[in-house]
Amino acid sequence: MRILVTGGSGFVGSHTVALLLDKGFDVTVVDNYSNSLVEAEGAIERVASARPEFCRLDIRETDELQRIMARVEPEVIIHFAGMKHVGESTQLPQEYYDCNVGGMLSLLTAARETDTRKIVFSSSGSVYGETNQLPIPEKRPHAPTNPYSTTKSVCERILSDLCTADESWSAVALRYFNPAGAHPSGLLGEWCVGPPSNLLPRVIEAAACEDPEDRKMVIHGDDFDTPDGTGVRDYVHVQDVADAHVRAIEVLNQPGLPSGGFEALNIGRGQGVSVRELIVAVEQASGRELSIEVGPRRPGDVSALYGDTSLARDRLGLVDYRGLDQICQDAWRFKSMHPNGYT
Ligand code: WQD
Repeated sequence: MRILVTGGSGFVGSHTVALLLDKGFDVTVVDNYSNSLVEAEGAIERVASARPEFCRLDIRETDELQRIMARVEPEVIIHFAGMKHVGESTQLPQEYYDCNVGGMLSLLTAARETDTRKIVFSSSGSVYGETNQLPIPEKRPHAPTNPYSTTKSVCERILSDLCTADESWSAVALRYFNPAGAHPSGLLGEWCVGPPSNLLPRVIEAAACEDPEDRKMVIHGDDFDTPDGTGVRDYVHVQDVADAHVRAIEVLNQPGLPSGGFEALNIGRGQGVSVRELIVAVEQASGRELSIEVGPRRPGDVSALYGDTSLARDRLGLVDYRGLDQICQDAWRFKSMHPNGYT
């Protein structure tokens, strides 16, 4: 089966591409490398002992994207390409709408000229916004609190409306929470273009400092309505998130998707972990102690966010998720093997 993966050199994308290749899919990757590095290409090949086709392209180049799709004739699209940082999106809203929503519309326009009518979309648990009713089920209305999460909510609505209007389309939106970790081989992980903004790679970077004096972490606010006052998220191993995407292809091939061919599924461990708890888990995985400073809250941050993941268990068979210790051990191994990883 031929799969087109947009953003396939990124963090979750590259781990998904490696898994698809392992399972014998033919994969074409389209990526503009704005938030990924070409190191991921070689890493994918080493991990999967197979190589996808890599096309360097911004998905907003609709004509060129359409030419690639007409040549490849993918049976399914997995759409990761987009900008992904909550804090950054509050500073660059226009770029986020242009890239994430404009990119989705360009992709669907290109697909219209081909027979591709199945898509797995990289959505986000952040579409739910601030809530104290946790864990969050999929039926909860969206209440995004920043431009990033709003783009994910709008893209889901585009797909849902398209599937309702045209029954030849079917789509699965995977609302994942906080993907983290690295491939257990240590060969593949999260290469960041510039300093990372997400918590785990930042803690790993701090722990990796040679001088113990430099092993410092800033916690963005400790006055949230959470057990220890720091932000709570659902950290889910990137390998489990990749597995969810591969399993979602099977769901798209089943007849009778609900609500006119569109379905959204929460992807996460279903457990909240605080910033302080994650820092302790990295200290244990690395054997290194970090000093902590509490700073101001970050714009757009919510107190706590984790999902009810029972529907994904039923629909995708996702049951045994890797634990927080495994996430931190795999992230530390990747950093140890790639001193320049994460930055
Ligand atoms: C987590 C917590 C911070 C850095 C992410 C991705 C986004 C999307 C949703 C998938 C927050 C705190 C962070 C630091 C800190 N992923 N923090 N010090 O904001 O939940 O968003 O998940 O769709 O792509 O960005 O994740 O890792 O940025 O922050 O205290 O140096 O860690 O305030 O509470 P977030 P994050």
